[in-house]
Amino acid sequence: MPKLSVNDINARGKRVFLRVDYNVPLEEKDGQIVITDETRIVETLPTLKRLCEQGGKLILTAHLGRPKGTRDPSLSLRPVAVRLAELLHRPVAFVDDCIGEKVEKTAGIMQPGDLLLLENLRFYKEEEENDAAFAEKLARVADLYVNDAFGAAHRAHASTEGVPRVIAKRGGTCAAGLLMERELKFLGEELERPAAPFVVILGGAKVSDKITVIERLLEKAQTILIGGAMAYTFRLAQGYKTGKSLVEADKLDVAKSALAKAKERGVKFLLPSDDVIATPVKTDKLDKKGKPVIEYQNVRVNTDMNCPDDSAGLDIGPTTIKAYSAEIRTSKTILWNGPMGLFENKQFAEGTNAIARAVAEVTQQSGAKSIIGGGDSVKALNKAGLGNQVTFMSTGGGASLEFLEGKGLPGVSALTDKK
Ligand code: 3PG
Ligand code: MG
Repeated sequence: MPKLSVNDINARGKRVFLRVDYNVPLEEKDGQIVITDETRIVETLPTLKRLCEQGGKLILTAHLGRPKGTRDPSLSLRPVAVRLAELLHRPVAFVDDCIGEKVEKTAGIMQPGDLLLLENLRFYKEEEENDAAFAEKLARVADLYVNDAFGAAHRAHASTEGVPRVIAKRGGTCAAGLLMERELKFLGEELERPAAPFVVILGGAKVSDKITVIERLLEKAQTILIGGAMAYTFRLAQGYKTGKSLVEADKLDVAKSALAKAKERGVKFLLPSDDVIATPVKTDKLDKKGKPVIEYQNVRVNTDMNCPDDSAGLDIGPTTIKAYSAEIRTSKTILWNGPMGLFENKQFAEGTNAIARAVAEVTQQSGAKSIIGGGDSVKALNKAGLGNQVTFMSTGGGASLEFLEGKGLPGVSALTDKK
């Protein structure tokens, strides 16, 4: 059922409770907190501008990280308010709480077109618990509800599910933001009847994360290309040795059933024919999370389907890159989710970068529609400077996966149906 959008409402003089996904990566540089990827903020600007033009009073709410109900100063949204004001060229007020007197006072003196960002919702454990009383408190400053937080729409939390329920009960309107609409259009409608050949590229660590998506896409795709560590669970299922590669040994039946289903449906299901392997060695150094830093020794291309006992597979190899790029070149529709290897490490980034180039190229040169399912693939495309050369990049990670699986998203279901 299509949902009401900000284009269908009039926010003039109304206080709009606007849920956004500003869960952005932050880093400390020279004592300053900087946002290392502001895509999620930039992508909400059209919605903010539209609602400001209408004369709405915008009360923005968001979460940052997983503070689990504690006030963690390193997860404050204040730096986001500063950056948002710069991007909009207008003031954005900030209150260091998301409920209570201070919020209500500030909201009370807002003028049409004003913006206010509230502090991290997850400083209250009631947010994730979708606590009804907390939702009521949040909704006290709201006449209208707008959700532009596609990335958090798979969560049934107070701000995504509870607040719209309160507003709807009062007879108020709950609409989708423009980013939310675009996400639902590209990941939903556009992939409903994709132009053939439809090539799906899946990577990342785990088969278990993607299995429902794989099963669903086997109904629609002509070709599925597998990369990343999850390829090794398939290899193991086929009886090969996987050495120290990341595998899910308890998911072999899942991998086998996907392979069988692909065969039955005549879907070309490709696994890497060669890979880049190395010997992982634990060092004395610790990473940011306190885990030992792994050094990769003896990095080499492996053309044997078996991986030596002391080595791990970390990227797709040159022959696989060629084969996958050729498939991508003939496609009319592409869906890509998940990197082809450990791309954060330069030595194992070539597979992911080559796929990014192939996807950008076929989009630009042959007019193929390329849809990138969020998370690490988006990171990789942006890193390669190719983000603007694909048709659509999702701002959702978990949300886009769940949506592609065909699951209903609580944050979408809670919005008002279009009549
Ligand atoms: C995300 O980054 O995946 C979304 O903002 C949702 O965050 P969460 O996974 O912590 O719920
Ligand atoms: Mg997540």
